[in-house]
Amino acid sequence: MNAGPGVATRVLAAKVLEAVIHRGRSLKGELVTALAQLPDPRDRALLEAICFSALRQRARYDAALQLWLQKPLGEKDGDLRSLLLVGFAQIDAMGLPAHAALSATVEAARTLGRPHQAGMVNALLRRAQREGFPESDPAAAWSAWLRKKINLEWGEHANAIFQASAHAAPLWLRVNRSKGTRDEYASRLQEADIVSSIDPNLSDALRIDLPVAVSALPGFAEGDASVQDGSAQQVADALPLGPGAHVLDACAAPGGKAAHLLERDPSLRLLALDVDQRRLNRVRETLTRIGAQAEFRVADASDTQTWWNGEPFDAVLLDAPCSATGIVRRQPDVLLHRRPEDLSSLVALQARLLDGVWKTVKSGGVLLYATCSILKDENEHQLSRFVARTADAQPEALDARYGHAAGHGRQRLPGEQGMDGFFYALLRKRNSH
Ligand SMILES: C[S@@+](CC[C@H](N)C(=O)[O-])C[C@H]1O[C@@H](n2cnc3c(N)ncnc32)[C@H](O)[C@@H]1O
Repeated sequence: MNAGPGVATRVLAAKVLEAVIHRGRSLKGELVTALAQLPDPRDRALLEAICFSALRQRARYDAALQLWLQKPLGEKDGDLRSLLLVGFAQIDAMGLPAHAALSATVEAARTLGRPHQAGMVNALLRRAQREGFPESDPAAAWSAWLRKKINLEWGEHANAIFQASAHAAPLWLRVNRSKGTRDEYASRLQEADIVSSIDPNLSDALRIDLPVAVSALPGFAEGDASVQDGSAQQVADALPLGPGAHVLDACAAPGGKAAHLLERDPSLRLLALDVDQRRLNRVRETLTRIGAQAEFRVADASDTQTWWNGEPFDAVLLDAPCSATGIVRRQPDVLLHRRPEDLSSLVALQARLLDGVWKTVKSGGVLLYATCSILKDENEHQLSRFVARTADAQPEALDARYGHAAGHGRQRLPGEQGMDGFFYALLRKRNSH
């Protein structure tokens, strides 16, 4: 039997979700393999949109299944459950026309070897379409230990964090200053019928609330604009740099922040370091696309003996590996995969990185510590411990544009001003005399 149009996309989406939800696989990794099987870019975009929407809204859809199914799905029904999430996401979060979503998803049940359950899939999708979804708590998507931590640490803000993390982010663009002004680029978008807005606190950013494919963005391939969340763009504002400064980007891959710094000042002498060779190659690609120059090095930044030639840096950016709890809306599988022991090893790694790269900052120079985490262990507590054990580290204040006051730094929570959750802390090295 020949599967109807769109069936293959639904089958692949169900397989991706099954691997991510039931077998601990990463969404990014599974998507790479699945996307390679779809030649049409529209199908690829649909596959991604289904997987992200289903994972973001997983708690709501699970709650509906619990209510609607007389007998809960068994352990061996991971693919069926995933297919139902695929169907729900299309009807609900993505608002696709029901006829297309329904028939392709029901057909996908057959392709997945479950012809005897196609009727049930059909009935559940029709019910969802008719009744909508029951009220449910977005916090249910978070594992108990993380939920407890967020409630404890963020109290009155916790609900807003859970809500914001279940919704798609707007598309934030960073306009390449070295190629033209933001106003000029906004006009080019307008000519292409793409509506964008500015944020008064972000000088290079344009926000697009109805996301479009990057291929539709004028001059994207030439590096006239890049995709980067507003919070990530603020890193360049928080790091004070003189012209031609010697800069270390200690955890540089995939290179968004290095690119931004170099677009602002191509005269910087920037060393892009990352422990992961393949990821560092992406920094090279990113910088090539925007036409910027840098030095590259694969190394563990904390182990300065292996890579540092002793010439101090005016400024160090430490955009540290973290729990990614501030960007759950972009990486919804974080909620399925983070374990308490991951957090302890991340906190230890961040401390090692801080101690290591601090040695490379020149007297009077600065270090900006940033994470896309909202957990205090990785952010304000990490910084308090560092400042307490580091005699020459002097915290410098960042203003309210960077979010809530959080110890020696500032914390933006997910969704605030439409941006990702992010932490920033600026430290200056006291002159040693
Ligand atoms: C949050 S990402 C950095 C994002 C990057 N700054 C950007 O704007 O595109 C963290 C990076 O740290 C790298 N990393 C992890 N441990 C490291 C280490 N010990 N030394 C250097 N890089 C490390 C990871 O490979 C990852 O690319």
